[in-house]
Amino acid sequence: MPSPRKVSWHAHWWVLDLAADTVAARGRFITLEGGEGVGKSTLIKSLTQYLRDAGTDVVVTREPGGTPGAEAVRSLLLNPPEDCNWSPLSQTLLFYAARAQHLEQVILPALEQGRWVICDRFSDSTRAYQIVAGGLDIGTLDEIDRMVVSHHQPDLTLILDLPVEDAAKRRSDRGEPDDVFERKGVAFHRSVREAFLEIARNHADRCAIIDASGSPDEILDESVRLIRERLT
Ligand code: TYD
Repeated sequence: MPSPRKVSWHAHWWVLDLAADTVAARGRFITLEGGEGVGKSTLIKSLTQYLRDAGTDVVVTREPGGTPGAEAVRSLLLNPPEDCNWSPLSQTLLFYAARAQHLEQVILPALEQGRWVICDRFSDSTRAYQIVAGGLDIGTLDEIDRMVVSHHQPDLTLILDLPVEDAAKRRSDRGEPDDVFERKGVAFHRSVREAFLEIARNHADRCAIIDASGSPDEILDESVRLIRERLT
């Protein structure tokens, strides 16, 4: 019989090999961003279908939301009680409270299992909407983001870009009721669009802008091209 010490040396390498075979590679984290009515929902549907047809295990989720708790925070934010008037700082803290739980309970476990996560909006929306709304400085936002998201930033962020007037027309054609952000005026939405373009410039390694005036097929093709170029 070999001594226990010799056996454990061989077993050690065997266990490592086994681990290499069975531990799934981390999945990919893709976020979709942009103003209101730019076509994120349509792209999410077609992109998810495309990736699933290609054999990728995809989790689709959204912010604010993605867990029962975060969905409850979503209604507080998007359809607040009368006379509530959240300040941009209060909104930001609520968005990040929901985000912390969403990351812990949904996004990170899925990525660890090797699944891909497609998330409708994430931190860049807070950076665009709450900063544009005023009263919140970028340093405070960066600090909160470091605390909550830390190094778990998306692998790729697709920013759909469309002139505000075209996006408003798409929204009114859909005829859905407006939430608290959608009710804001054209000037606000123009600034949000500019804020997303600036985020894309400042984080060019992570973000890509997609011209959202194209057809749904063209937008899907461009997204797939970017995913191939950046993530595979
Ligand atoms: P949603 O109905 O998902 O809008 P859309 O279809 O345009 O994505 O509502 C999300 C709203 O919340 C949207 O107006 C943007 C806003 N929002 C913020 O202001 N900050 C954030 O951090 C997030 C995630 C969303």
